[in-house]
Amino acid sequence: MSPAGTPLRLGVLASGSGSNLQSILDGCVGGSIPARVGVVICNVPGARALRRAEAAGVPALLLDHRVHRARDDYDWELVAALRKHDVDLVCLAGFMRLIGPALLSSFHNKILNIHPSLLPSFPGMHAVRQALAAGVRVAGCTVHLVDEGTDTGPILIQAAVPVFDGDTEETLAERILVQEHRCYPRAISLLAQGRVQIDGRRVRISGAAADAARTLSSPELLD
Ligand code: GAR
Repeated sequence: MSPAGTPLRLGVLASGSGSNLQSILDGCVGGSIPARVGVVICNVPGARALRRAEAAGVPALLLDHRVHRARDDYDWELVAALRKHDVDLVCLAGFMRLIGPALLSSFHNKILNIHPSLLPSFPGMHAVRQALAAGVRVAGCTVHLVDEGTDTGPILIQAAVPVFDGDTEETLAERILVQEHRCYPRAISLLAQGRVQIDGRRVRISGAAADAARTLSSPELLD
């Protein structure tokens, strides 16, 4: 990706609060992610993600999708901005727009997304609401590479959390978000270290710890 010796440059696309963006910015500054954020692009005026980028001293662009009639025109504008900032890896962090062919072909296998469900369950909008409606006892988040489908690309990391009887969409989303902030920096770091090998739908991660005895059950199996 980057020429040898230069840190990977990230372009983060966000639409909302930007708490995942913040975990990436913090990881880059703190050294847990061997990369730097080259640009943050937001499609929603006034989104907190823009202020987080500015506070971190990172170029922050507002590209409002509503000023473009054609989806493709907007995607090409995204590509131009990402190229201008020498971005190697695109990180979708709560970016609430579908990614079109222009962006996909320009950054093939170089676009990551985080989604608040254990994919392939509950893709698309309102994932946490879908999980509660389905009555699952374990929920979670997924970091995956983006392909032409909706939340269908190869999976790098997943983390699971229990669902409690009293959960609302808000309480469960909050529990999942804590894990998102752990998973996304880790996934970027693995890519930046060249430890990720894509083999069809499966992703192999070199040197990943594996403990076959670790499980999560909900409710807990105490007896
Ligand atoms: C996160 O929960 C992320 O997984 C979700 O939006 C939230 C953004 O929060 N993304 C999707 O649902 C994408 N389909 P943030 O702005 O605080 O990072």
